[in-house]
Formats: sequence, C-alpha cells, structure tokens
Amino acid sequence: MNDTPHQSVLYKEIIHALQPRRGGRYVDGTVGAGGHARGILEACAPDGQLLGLDVDPQALAIARRNLAPYEQRIHLAQASYTTLAAQLKTIQWDSVDGIVLDLGASSMQFDTPERGFSFQHDAPLDMRFGTHVPQTAADIVNTYTERELADLIYEYGEDRDSRKIARAIINKRPLHTTRELVAVIEAVSPHRGSFDTFGRTSRVHPATKTFQALRIAVNDELASIKTVLPQAVASLGVGGRLAVISFHSLEDRIVKDFFREQSKDVVNPPYERIYEIERKAIIKEVHRKPITPSEEETKNNPRARSAKLRIAEKI
Ligand SMILES: C[S@@+](CC[C@H](N)C(=O)[O-])C[C@H]1O[C@@H](n2cnc3c(N)ncnc32)[C@H](O)[C@@H]1O
Repeated sequence: MNDTPHQSVLYKEIIHALQPRRGGRYVDGTVGAGGHARGILEACAPDGQLLGLDVDPQALAIARRNLAPYEQRIHLAQASYTTLAAQLKTIQWDSVDGIVLDLGASSMQFDTPERGFSFQHDAPLDMRFGTHVPQTAADIVNTYTERELADLIYEYGEDRDSRKIARAIINKRPLHTTRELVAVIEAVSPHRGSFDTFGRTSRVHPATKTFQALRIAVNDELASIKTVLPQAVASLGVGGRLAVISFHSLEDRIVKDFFREQSKDVVNPPYERIYEIERKAIIKEVHRKPITPSEEETKNNPRARSAKLRIAEKI
C-alpha cells in the first residue's frame, strides 16, 4: 500500500473531545495509519489502553508499525467496527471511556492505485476496504440493472445525472477499470462548477459522485454506521464520549439523527394526560453544531475539507 502518511483529520479536536486520562480504555474503530490512536495513547499514558480496529489488513500492518512504541497498551484486530461489542467481549472490556470513528477511506487507500478508489489512477474497479467484502465495484457496475445503478448513483452519490450515467454504463459494459468508467461518465456528464467551503468556485470532476456511490455500496458503509452507533453508545461508561468524523452529508445525517434521537427522553404516548417516560435519554450532545476543520487545516490537507465531527457523551 502507498506509504504516504495519512494526515489525521481534526486531530487536536479528537484528543480534546475524548479527554483521554491515565488508566482509561479507548477504542479507535477505524485505526487506519494509527494517527488518532497515537494521540490517544500518548494522552492516556502511562497505563491507558486502546483497542484499534480496521478491516484493511494493509492499514492494520501500518498501524502496528506506527504504534509499536505503545505495544504493551494496544490491542489491534482486523475486524469491522460493526462487530465492536463482540471485539470488546473478546478482550473482556465491559465498558470504555472513549470511542473514535473516522469514517471513509484513508489517503493511503486513495493513493494506492490498485485499490481502485481514485478516478485519477487507472486500476481495476475494486474499492473494497477489506477482503471480507463480498463484491467489488466491478461486480456492481456489471451486474446491477439500469434502474438499480441509477438509484445507487442518485442515493449514494446525490448525482442528478444518475440516469444518464446508468444508461451509459449499461451500454458500454462490461467495464473493468476506473479509466473505462471515468470515460463513460465524462461522455455523458459535463464538468460543473461548484462552491468550496470558502465560497470559491471549484471544478468537481463528474466521476466524483459515482465513485463515492460505488464505494459506499461496495462496503455497505451507511448500514455499517447505523449498526455501530448503538453498540458504541452501549459500551461507553457514564461520562464516556463517542466522537465521529464524517465526510459527506449522508454519513453526517445518520450520526446527527442518532445523536438527536438518543439525547431525548421518549414520552409515550405523548397525548395522554399522565406522561410516562418510555425511554430516557442516554447521551447528551457535547456541541449542538458539528466541529469543522480550521481554514489552516483545510489548506494543509484538502481532504479535510468536508469533515464534520460530532461528539456525544454518555449520561
Ligand atoms: C479515514 S481512515 C482512518 C484514519 C485514522 N483515523 C488515522 O488517524 O490514521 C478510515 C479507516 O477506516 C477503515 N474502515 C472503513 N470501514 C471500516 C469498518 N466497517 N470497520 C473498521 N474499519 C473500517 C478504512 O479501512 C480506513 O483505514
């Protein structure tokens, strides 16, 4: 895998959010190159511990190397964060003090052409985060119906050219490489201007959204987030914090809705005179609005541009 170091997004903010302390137990559910994990391990020295998970064996090998100085205090597992509860059981941790999830792909994955995540390199249409994933992007592109492809590109890519792109894919398939797919998209979907976070116009490549949509579908990303959030909250001790960084609105909406829902008492039935609290709020949102990267961070690391951090505390 490409060894260009992954620059951890919102690094200081994550450490500040989790407030790691001596003897604490922490989970990095998306350990990647181990950047956030290292910060947590330093902050909870000398005896705090960390469980790091990643589905990508190559990322995990890099994390293992980068986190070697903390070997005595880490547990690393090649596993999906969707299995968080089971992973905690394996190492016999009843509860934890903090959990971070830094969603999506790392820059190491994007910059490794053969992984097929980037439309800027020619490579097989793969896009799997881990080898456990049953289908590649090529499988989806070459077997879905036109309708299914259009829905996928519309829902997960929020691309208004979804129908045109789906039709073009059907006409040109089988497609095996990123370059073939990019050529099909470019032929039917023009470059459009858009605004970046600073309100400047930028040109978004027309393949961006289709690639995002395929990556989400291949790795079942949205369902995975929905699966992990309740497990994460359940495994926190009182006062423990869950910090989630998302990179697009589909992910952020899931986190936002979950945090809102779980931070309210549910009164049932609401129309009766004597209100019974059916379910008490189990978390509080630490900030109402998500935390976003500073202008300086975005300048140094353009991939941080769309990041949003939400933090919840167990009550
Ligand atoms: C943005 S990177 C994390 C970078 C890391 N925070 C750092 O500072 O180096 C996201 C990582 O999550 C991993 N990942 C994606 N889906 C996952 C899942 N369901 N379970 C565990 N890891 C996952 C990816 O393989 C990738 O390495």
